[in-house]
Parts: sequence; structure tokens; C-alpha cells
Amino acid sequence: MPCRLDATAIPAPPRPSGKPLPAALAWIDDDLAALRAAGLERPHRVRAGRQGREVCLDGQTLLNFGSNDYLGLAGDVRLTKAASKAACAEGFGAGASPLVSGHSQAHELLERALAGLLAVDAALTFPSGFAANTATIAALVGPDDFLASDARNHASIIDGCRLSRGRVGIYPHRDMAALDTLLSQAHSSRRRLIVTDTVFSMDGTVAPLADLCELARKHRAILMVDEAHATGVFGVRGSGLVEETGCADGVHVRVGTLSKALAAAGGFVAGHADMIHWLRHAARAWIFSTAHPPAVAAAATCAITLLSQEPYRRQELLARAAGFRELLSQSGLGVAGATTQIVPIVVGAAEAAVAVATQLAEAGFFVPAIRPPSVPAGKSLVRVSLSWHHTADDLDRLASTITSILRDRADT
Ligand SMILES: Cc1ncc(COP(=O)(O)O)c(C=O)c1O
Repeated sequence: MPCRLDATAIPAPPRPSGKPLPAALAWIDDDLAALRAAGLERPHRVRAGRQGREVCLDGQTLLNFGSNDYLGLAGDVRLTKAASKAACAEGFGAGASPLVSGHSQAHELLERALAGLLAVDAALTFPSGFAANTATIAALVGPDDFLASDARNHASIIDGCRLSRGRVGIYPHRDMAALDTLLSQAHSSRRRLIVTDTVFSMDGTVAPLADLCELARKHRAILMVDEAHATGVFGVRGSGLVEETGCADGVHVRVGTLSKALAAAGGFVAGHADMIHWLRHAARAWIFSTAHPPAVAAAATCAITLLSQEPYRRQELLARAAGFRELLSQSGLGVAGATTQIVPIVVGAAEAAVAVATQLAEAGFFVPAIRPPSVPAGKSLVRVSLSWHHTADDLDRLASTITSILRDRADT
């Protein structure tokens, strides 16, 4: 039985009570009202128990198509046991930043396991993937440099670019001709950095890695990729899209997260040993933020071991994703062409995406609505994230439910 915490042990804080905000914060009421009017207010859901094929949100059990638990390891007891063992051996809190005394044996083992998985010299772990991106970008480039960033990159890349104080050029999604032009105009910059997701989190498309490597070589640019949604899913070893596409030699900096397919938490950067050593002196989130708990590192190491022992998880996941896309296209639904486990169904207006997600929940499926600022205005979608747990029957039922909801909406 999934273990549930006793939700009555701590009383809930009072819900919005009509108590006015202090004058200095009164603007928040207006801004929240504007979000509400635009259909952009976010729900605050509470999950109970373990997640897997199903998830219990605010007391409602739904088939779970809204998690990044791609390999179905988030509720796996082997990770829990690995974490408990490390917590017993090393205690729970890391106590300090990795620079000072927070880098435990569990972290060291994890960094070695990551370097092995990615077949690189070394890896460095961070408290989150978000921190890994912001800290690494700002450590590699500065005010005299140029950064080229894909228009659909993750928020942590966008924030890292801003933090670097370099000149940022945004190229249209996957547009290599535009990137070439931007880089040609940046030859006087001290350094050039190209940064991209490999699997884009909102629409499941993939970066053209071979072309990116060629442009990086041509313009003597650093190429940094974020494998957050590819780690554990792509490649013969499961290290990501860089491995899958055979582009390891052309990619200088590989960032990933331990929080999605690897079902733990934290982020990492991997590459040349000297670059990693430099980051230990320049990556501020590594120097000034407490390391994540050793137990979390141990759970991530356990998940990496499972990547080699249970390759069928990623193979079956991708086969199911291809089958699901096929089902949708047979029903006449256009799905962005890609082969990933993230399947976006573009609805249009934010309110419409929320309405479709609500109807899906009424039919027993948790499929989140994705709205601005995560996607451009007018391109709101429901995003189906597949997991190894889903059965062929789950996918059949979801495809036919989505199809009939969208048909009914088109008819009215
Ligand atoms: C592409 C991408 N990069 C980085 C992150 C941040 O990773 P983390 O959740 O470990 O902070 C995410 C998502 O959360 C992501 O989707």
C-alpha cells in the first residue's frame, strides 16, 4: 500500500480570508486579478501518497500524464532503500555547501557514476537542475561575451543568460540559419556560447545537435546543452540525446537533472575535468548553496545503476510514445513531429487549454494545461508526459478521450 502522510497532523493555514494586504503589497491583488481574468491563475495542488501510473491530487485519483517520472522510478522502493541507507550512514542534512563540507561520499559516488554514464572526465552536482544551468552559464561567460539561446529554452537557461550579463541573442526555435547569422555578427565578442535544451520541455521537440556542433566549430563557440528531459531516456546507455546522436565530441558542456527520469533531485554538469574544476571556483550555486542531502545523491546513484540493469524501461517508453503519437495522428490530430515522450496537443487560448485539462480530469486523466509564459500567447496546450508505467490500454483511452473532447469543442 502506498504510504500516506497524516495530513491532519499539521493544521492547514487559513485559506485567503479577506484580510487585506499591507499597503506596500496591495498591488498583488490587482496583478492576481489580472492573471485570473486572462485565465492564467495557477492551481496549488496537493499530492497524496506515491505517484506512478496513478496520482492522487487534491483527493482525486487520476491516471498520471503530468509527471516527469519517465521511467516510473519515482515510487520505486529500491531508490527509497538506497536513500535510507545513505541517510543512516551520513545523516540527513548536507550541512554546508559542497565547497565547504557538504560534499559527502554519496555525492562523490554520484559524480563518478554520472561521469561514467556520460563517458566524460568529470561531473559536478548541484541542488537543482535550475541552479546547475544558472550557475554554469554565468561561470563560463560574462559581460564581454555573446550568448545564443534557442527561443524555447527552459527558464533556468534564460535566467542564466541574464545573470551572465553578456549580450544575448535569441534565435527562433531550432533555426540554424538564424543562429549562423547571429554568431557571424558576434566575432568581436571575447567568447561565444550556444545554449539549448536537447529535448524541449514544453513541446517535446529535439535540438538539431549535429548542426549545432558544426556551427559551434565554425564560430569557435562553446556548445552547452541541457539534457533535463533526455537523461535516462535516450541513448544506448541512457545518458541522453548527445549519446543517441553521436555528438559527444562536439558538445563541451552537458547539463542534466536528477529530478526527472532519475526520480531523485538535483542537477549536474559534466565534461572536461579542467572545466569542472573551474566551475568549483566560479559556479556560485555550487559555492554558496548547501549541497542536496546525501540520501538524495544515493537515490540518484541507484537510479543510474538501474539505467544499465533495466534498459527496457526507456526502450518501452519510447515505443509507447511513438504508438501514442500514431494513434493521435490517425484521429486527425496534429502532433509536433518528434520522437520523444513529451506529446503536446496545442489548443490555443489559455482558457481553452484549462477547459480541456478539466474535461480530461473529469474523465480520469491528469494532463496539465501549459499556458503563457511557459508557451507563447495563443499556443496554450495540454501536455501529455508519458511514463514507463502506462499500458497500451491507458494510451488508447487517453487518445480517444482527447480526440472526442477536441471534436466536441470544434463542433460547438
Ligand atoms: C529543460 C529543463 N532544464 C532544467 C530544469 C530544472 O531542473 P530541476 O527541476 O532539477 O531544477 C527543468 C525542469 O524542471 C527543465 O525542464
